[in-house]
Amino acid sequence: MLFRELNNAKCKTYLLASEGMERAVIIDPVKDRVERYLGVLAYHRLKLDLIVDTHTHADHRSGAHELSGLTGTPVAMHRWAPAPHVTMHLEDGQRLILGDFELKVLYTPGHTPDSISLYAEDRVFTGDCLLIHGTGRADFAGGDAGEQYDSITRKLFTLPDSTLVYPAHDYRGHIHSTIGEEKGSNPRVAGRSREAYVDLMNNLGLPLPEGIQEALQPNQTEIEAAAIHFPTLSQLNSVLQLSPAEIAGRLDSAARPLLLDVREREEYVGELGHIAGARLIPLRELPERAEAELASFKDKDIVVICRAGVRSVTAAAILTGLGFDNVCSMKGGMLDWNDARLPVER
Ligand SMILES: [Fe+2]
Repeated sequence: MLFRELNNAKCKTYLLASEGMERAVIIDPVKDRVERYLGVLAYHRLKLDLIVDTHTHADHRSGAHELSGLTGTPVAMHRWAPAPHVTMHLEDGQRLILGDFELKVLYTPGHTPDSISLYAEDRVFTGDCLLIHGTGRADFAGGDAGEQYDSITRKLFTLPDSTLVYPAHDYRGHIHSTIGEEKGSNPRVAGRSREAYVDLMNNLGLPLPEGIQEALQPNQTEIEAAAIHFPTLSQLNSVLQLSPAEIAGRLDSAARPLLLDVREREEYVGELGHIAGARLIPLRELPERAEAELASFKDKDIVVICRAGVRSVTAAAILTGLGFDNVCSMKGGMLDWNDARLPVER
């Protein structure tokens, strides 16, 4: 197996390739470096088979979709990834076979709800779940410190002690660590109970990373910041969120809300389907279409729906900003709606 870290920076991108068969996978490409990756692939005469993002990144723009567009390579992410245009949605335990090696998907949420680790031969790519002598933050983008503790202690720490750990970030110049080393001496996790870990992570008192919304929102929506005016964090935080069950309960009432689905058309008719009667306006078109097409709903109840309940929060905040009075977002999106076995149309 050919193995390279491609950035030589704090933000890590990994290339794995089966030596004999010239097939390759790139993990966590960074948008600024896509041309460099193409150069490396060409130099080694590798055909890119798969691009994987370990999670929705908040600190830099993902290069996954640009690299995919230029090479025709599918993009894989966990099923809870909020963005459209993910070619392959991954689940815990799934095996990705790439030439003479395979990657096993380990669902390791906590840093984000869509965080995965990838286990290949003697090494594991831990995204921002487990870092070298640290852990990724769990205080933004849907993070949950308790889930992260479980992901680390119940999933990653059950791998053989000799397993090499390659995280998505390192700020101190480390290249890798091992599971055994982290189990024994990771200062955040070793010897700490779940409760103590949650307490520690919820009280780190770190400021939000600079430019977080400028990276996070385009990564979550696949819309460039130049193409849409994204809401501010406080506008996003003030969006009311209702569960699928609460929304289902309101559909039969006399005051039935307008259901507004903001996914792409192929998602609306795709695997997760849509709720009967939901009107489709993709998020990228919403700012220009809302006034003309939804004018009669300015003072009515609107429920915004998407895949994972992330794009719908953005859309709800945009509508509120345009003067729509009663807009809420469906929590967990069509993923939760389907998981609750509520009816869909395709
Ligand atoms: Fe991250």
